[in-house]
Amino acid sequence: MHLTKEEEKLLEDDNPAIRKAMKLLTKLGDIYGAEEMVEVSSAQASGVSYKSIGDPGIKFLEEFAEEGGEVSIPTFANPAGMDLEKWREMNISESFAKKQNRIIEAMEKMGITITASCTPYLWSNLPRKNEHIAWAESSAVSFANSVIGAKTNREGGPSALAAAITGRTPKHGLHLEENREPTHIIEVDAELESISGFGALGSWVGREVEDGKPYFKGIKKAGTDELKGLGAAMAASGAVALYFVEDITVDSKDTRGLEKLQFGEEEKEEEYQELNKTENPELVVFGCPHCSINEIRDISNELKDEEMNKELWVCTSKAVKAWADRMGYTEKIEEAGGKVVCDTCNVVCPIEDMRYERTGTNSGKAANYLPGFCEQKVMFSNKEKLIEKVTK
Ligand code: F3S
Repeated sequence: MHLTKEEEKLLEDDNPAIRKAMKLLTKLGDIYGAEEMVEVSSAQASGVSYKSIGDPGIKFLEEFAEEGGEVSIPTFANPAGMDLEKWREMNISESFAKKQNRIIEAMEKMGITITASCTPYLWSNLPRKNEHIAWAESSAVSFANSVIGAKTNREGGPSALAAAITGRTPKHGLHLEENREPTHIIEVDAELESISGFGALGSWVGREVEDGKPYFKGIKKAGTDELKGLGAAMAASGAVALYFVEDITVDSKDTRGLEKLQFGEEEKEEEYQELNKTENPELVVFGCPHCSINEIRDISNELKDEEMNKELWVCTSKAVKAWADRMGYTEKIEEAGGKVVCDTCNVVCPIEDMRYERTGTNSGKAANYLPGFCEQKVMFSNKEKLIEKVTK
């Protein structure tokens, strides 16, 4: 791989963390056949939850921090394994919290902003079209590539950190324009009336196209919340990191000769059945990916003066919760008996150790991950039906 003089200097830098980061990136570049590095304007650090990275992950981060690792570009942290303030209210154990806090401290020491969210683009970290970035969380990667038009591969925790420290990443995969063309046409002929409808579509398409780049036709309307749910589900059931929605994310693309797949009412129904394994959740969670202020408003409006007979979590970032507090949405949710949970979600927190076995979700991504990663039986449905389950 060709390195600039400056990049070669980084391999010999006095700071061991910079040397290590640069070495890691050049090795990755060689593995992926990259010809050069590309400068990135922001990074998203994944592997924040202790549940995901365990003790080896803590060691890795603490070593980097000890060696003088410091980010050189704006870098934002993915969700942690608990609400970093209200973890006791979540029944997180002291031992888990201690380890989680060590991860946060190491990241803070390196200058990573503890946004603890998978939707940083909703309030602060908004790249521009064609900007090269190094993000790591699969739903955020998908949103950045597809909706914003920025360019990122799905980085792993170590490579995102190395990119954050050096401000570079190997130029391969989705950083190259020739790899950003559609691979399949998805003809949608089903009503996608809700976020769960987009989740069902995404879950079905991800399994069908795996790491392809689907081009959707027939979707008439989709806002930010629907698109983040669609991309998240495709990245979970498959490994989709870039998609196109005709007339919504792109005007048009050359799709001649591509394989066509049909998603109609029948496929939608089958996907709901595939993901829905219980009608009796103990806990209902919204916010995978983390809720926007509009989603929180809609949930709070649904609740009105209801009383809960089961648990409800609304997962979001601290930043969006601050708006929800100001607007009175948090109060409404709490008065009805629910919780607005920050910094984490039901997938990356140790939900399986908290005596929950059955979880309700409207997220195609969560419905794919909860059974395997969290040992949960899932109720997959729309917001209204899930809220019915937790209110009398
Ligand atoms: Fe975000 Fe957790 Fe879902 S990290 S995309 S809310 S699994």
